Amino acid sequence: MTSIHRIPTGHVELGMFVSEQTPNLEQSGLNSRGLISRKETLAKLKASGIAEIYIDTNRGKASSYSEPVQSANVAQKPELSLAEEWQRADKVYGEARSLVGNIVKDVKMGKAIEVGPVEELADEMCNSVLANANALLCLSQIREKDQYLLEHSINVGILMGVFCRYLGYEREQLHQAVTGAILHDVGKIRVPYHILNKEGKLTDDEWVEMRNHVLYGEEVLLKSEGISDIALSICAQHHEKVAGGGYPRGIDHAQITTYGKLASIVDIYDAITAERCYKKGKSPFETMRILSSLAGDSLDKALVYQFIRCMSVYPVGTLVQLSNGRLGVVVQPHDRQPDRPQVKTFFNLKLRQYEADRIVDLSNLELGIKIVKAHDAEALKIKVRDYISL
Ligand SMILES: [Fe+2]
Repeated sequence: MTSIHRIPTGHVELGMFVSEQTPNLEQSGLNSRGLISRKETLAKLKASGIAEIYIDTNRGKASSYSEPVQSANVAQKPELSLAEEWQRADKVYGEARSLVGNIVKDVKMGKAIEVGPVEELADEMCNSVLANANALLCLSQIREKDQYLLEHSINVGILMGVFCRYLGYEREQLHQAVTGAILHDVGKIRVPYHILNKEGKLTDDEWVEMRNHVLYGEEVLLKSEGISDIALSICAQHHEKVAGGGYPRGIDHAQITTYGKLASIVDIYDAITAERCYKKGKSPFETMRILSSLAGDSLDKALVYQFIRCMSVYPVGTLVQLSNGRLGVVVQPHDRQPDRPQVKTFFNLKLRQYEADRIVDLSNLELGIKIVKAHDAEALKIKVRDYISL
């Protein structure tokens, strides 16, 4: 049983121990995590604007308001292998495509969204992510260029699920966050196509219209019965910046919810890695570098670093060249050694020929094999999907 519990900040008391796993603690102005022994510290924490903190009940007082946090920040062992989960994940992804496709049609016709089916989809995504997060995560890397909005919505949902699971959120929060992430850009459906897909720079007027997608999205969600506050905050805040200056409201870290902060990270990650009609997608490795450069200004610093740890340096589905001259696909990241995942090799670069698939565990140092570099699968005309599903 975990000793880490989530508690609303308003119920924190003297004698509790603030865990280092608390997201966003630095914004409270506290210098360190630990036992709350002074009234001033308690007052500072309560005035910080942080909605909830994690306490460690092994090291301090417990509370009746708290909920246990399962395995926060610990890379959980998957319940099923990637191959076992693949089929279900593939089905969920297919269902997601058709459901989001229908939402696009409905919103175009001015209809409200039926939240029920989106919640069911979010539930199935949660099941898959909890069984083996890498299956859906890998599917999210395989995209078709012309279906950006549809695929982006699904992928942000998947990334949100994977990230919240990593942070140790309970099932209900995970579910609401995934629902909100699937719907975060729903307002873009109301933005004219020529603005949404414009290759060149947007004019000032076009930019105003583009930014309006957040307000349009909120409008659509508010009309939709049963939408949660978590989902709404994800839609409303995914373009806000922790230092202020984002849109539509220009609020800063104190007013942006943790869910809003998580959403802006996964949204930017997916947008940068995506291939668009007017730009090439960047590698996950390069994208992590860009996210780090945005940390503290646009994005919450602590959460960005958590996300980088969660996704690993070479996420599942990355095509890599190994020091033994083989080409392979990352199939399982390592919990503690992000540069030493399991790789399925299938091509001999020296002989320029395919060979039987083989799983190489780079964390086995006796093999003496490491990753030399990551490759662009599309440029090499390699279908990563073919090597993941078996
Ligand atoms: Fe957006």
